[in-house]
Amino acid sequence: MEQLRNGKRLIFFPLPFQGHINPMLELANILHSKGFSITIIHTSFNSLNPSSHPHFTFHSIHEGFSKSGTLKDTLLVISSLNANCHEPFRGCLTRLLSDVSKEPVACLITDSVYDFTKSVAESLKLPRILLRAWSASSFAIYATFPLLREKGYLPKQDSRLEEEVTELSPFKVKDLPLINSDGPERYFKIIADLEDQTKASCGLILNTFEDLDEHALATIRQNYSIPVFSLGPFHKCYPNSSSTSSSLLAQDQSCISWLNRQAPKSVIYVSFGSVAAINEAQFLEIAWGLANSKQPFLWVVRPGLVPGSDWLEALPSGFHETLNGKGHIVKWASQKEVLSHQAIGVFWTHNGWNSTLESICEGIPMICMPCSADQMMNARYVSDVWKVGLQLEDGVERGNIEKTIRKLLVEKEGEEIKDRVVKLMQKANFCLKPGGSSYQSLDALIKHILSFN
Ligand code: UDX
Repeated sequence: MEQLRNGKRLIFFPLPFQGHINPMLELANILHSKGFSITIIHTSFNSLNPSSHPHFTFHSIHEGFSKSGTLKDTLLVISSLNANCHEPFRGCLTRLLSDVSKEPVACLITDSVYDFTKSVAESLKLPRILLRAWSASSFAIYATFPLLREKGYLPKQDSRLEEEVTELSPFKVKDLPLINSDGPERYFKIIADLEDQTKASCGLILNTFEDLDEHALATIRQNYSIPVFSLGPFHKCYPNSSSTSSSLLAQDQSCISWLNRQAPKSVIYVSFGSVAAINEAQFLEIAWGLANSKQPFLWVVRPGLVPGSDWLEALPSGFHETLNGKGHIVKWASQKEVLSHQAIGVFWTHNGWNSTLESICEGIPMICMPCSADQMMNARYVSDVWKVGLQLEDGVERGNIEKTIRKLLVEKEGEEIKDRVVKLMQKANFCLKPGGSSYQSLDALIKHILSFN
């Protein structure tokens, strides 16, 4: 039954990347199911499809990117979005706030990396809540950056990458979430600004749950004196949300019919999310590691995964024949549906936060191959804190890959890892039930929003 509308409208402003769009639209669906009307402001870059969400109202703003332009560096894209969206966003928001034909706007819920929204919301006297799409632990660690710089761990030096950061055990220097893009100073400034504008917000929402990230959440609450809501896993809060509706790429449905023909818990699902890139040598090692394991595999090779390649042309001729039907390769999958399929035994992931959480929620152990940003921290949590997966510590090499797959699917170590991830999955389910931590946090968020006047 449709929930009664509560007469309040929320405005959402997602960052136009898949790993940020998914949690924000899931959150919008959750709050819509609680009676709020939803308006989404989105950029024309990676624009959303309004017909996939007929219950929301959409407004597009132009960020000034040319269609032919190359947008390879994510950090540069984010800086450009912050510089270019300011005025169009202000214009759009001003019009929405003065539209008396619609319900009054209770607040803005924006991606935490849009720093210009602070001044816009303040000038329009609109409460602003942030959604952080990355992991809680990668946010909690920012407060230690001054110490890590003082001790010489940051900026990272090649000679110290394997060293443990004693103050932050079990993290190693290589795990620290530093994007060296065009110089660490620029990144440190971005982080400092992010911390300041977070402190100035009316609240922070994280897609996690207390039992998973208790320590990181306690640190964040201590460092930022704003309300912090951990009401994840979002995609499990709102069971009716369609996994296809916010996908920027077409999802290949042949995955499911192929999985239907595989034995339970036998398949390795391989996907490195929407942004990560690997080189051709790594691509070939992955291909041969999978083939040599003799296990069935479903591999998402996103166009652009190997820069300079269109798709699979780097695979040697005859590769497919060696597989005997044991491998299925697609450009993009319906990942949540895939992970919940009974045939999946292992997820080989880059540990983007969404993928990590989606794997935990289905009780699937992980092979971790982090590439950048928060992924190294997420992977360290998976392998060394929650102990629900194994890292390819010795590099992306076919023998090492085969050995890791065997450990997870055949050996006793794999059994123990599976038991632990199933226990975490049960905790994820429990936190969403009445009385559970995420259930209570959602209630608190709704009360908080309704208290704005
Ligand atoms: C980015 C960052 O890289 C990541 O580090 C950060 O934590 C969030 O933002 P991305 O690299 O795309 O995200 O990875 P991830 O967080 O895992 O998000 C990918 C999303 O795309 C997931 O929700 C996943 O279900 C979906 N997906 C992925 C598909 O629908 N189909 C696919 O084939 C692959």
